[in-house]
Amino acid sequence: MSESDLLRVVDYHKHFHISRNFTVKAVDGISFEVRSGEVFSLVGESGSGKSTVAKGVMGIYPANKGEIYFKGHLISDRKSYKKARKHVQKDIQIVFQDSAAALNPRMKVKDIISEPLVVNKIFPSKGELIERIDELMLQVGLDPLFKNKYPNEISGGQRQRVAIARAIGLNPDLIVADEPVASLDVSIQAQIITLFEYLREEKNFTFFFIAHDLALVRYISDRVGVMYGGKIVEICPSEELFKNPWHPYTRSLLSAIPVPDPIYEKQKPLIGFDKSKFNPNGAMTKVADDHYALA
Ligand SMILES: Nc1ncnc2c1ncn2[C@@H]1O[C@H](COP(=O)(O)OP(=O)(O)OP(=O)(O)O)[C@@H](O)[C@H]1O
Ligand SMILES: [Mg+2]
Repeated sequence: MSESDLLRVVDYHKHFHISRNFTVKAVDGISFEVRSGEVFSLVGESGSGKSTVAKGVMGIYPANKGEIYFKGHLISDRKSYKKARKHVQKDIQIVFQDSAAALNPRMKVKDIISEPLVVNKIFPSKGELIERIDELMLQVGLDPLFKNKYPNEISGGQRQRVAIARAIGLNPDLIVADEPVASLDVSIQAQIITLFEYLREEKNFTFFFIAHDLALVRYISDRVGVMYGGKIVEICPSEELFKNPWHPYTRSLLSAIPVPDPIYEKQKPLIGFDKSKFNPNGAMTKVADDHYALA
């Protein structure tokens, strides 16, 4: 394990035993690391296991097999998670698709943002707390005048900004963002992605980003892992993935990304992916520098 690895997932398995003869292999042995200061993204179609991995990292889904380490602490079984909780709980924050919708409708924006700070007794004086709320609101592009509003008095994009302000308030080491823009309009999506970029560039946050849309994470990700059927089929720097996709599934995902040329777009070849030929039992193999694929 390298010094710079904030999060390390090693052969993580999460199987759900639905009945005696039916098991869902939601995540079936995946390994990756999130390095300090980077944006690492997992992409893949619906049901490929992305949120299950996020819940593993949050301590909600202990591993059936394999391990997850955060800052060197084992967090993937209940007992060790409990032991490591004080190192983990404040230091990993999550933003998800429905964060905006899940804000308490009876709390004002300022109380939603300050709740984690109050609970963790971060600021001794009320003046400092108010200052911090204003600062956080400015950081996520919200006018501090909004602080006395209720969630239903602001737009969906603004609500997601409130959720993000709440998540960054404690200066977490890692922000897990599970489809954080999936429920927003396309124009608002771009604004929120720009906000994540700002937080990463200017504030040095580390992100574990989850999305089903490869095009969306292309520019904000340092590295990308492509998930399919509970496996990571390919993992490498984002630029490399777009230049030299190796796995047939990655190639088919890339071929489906729209290009801003209507004539080409109409006749461009879509590469299909033959699911029947998918071999989940292959081994992760190095295909180039920092580039691995399921062979
Ligand atoms: N608690 C659970 N019990 C049983 N099956 C589950 C549970 N959680 C997830 N699954 C199953 O595990 C598989 C992976 O689900 P997961 O939510 O991780 O996918 P996902 O990649 O996040 O999909 P989406 O893009 O739709 O959010 C799915 O088949 C899902 O039905
Ligand atoms: Mg999901």
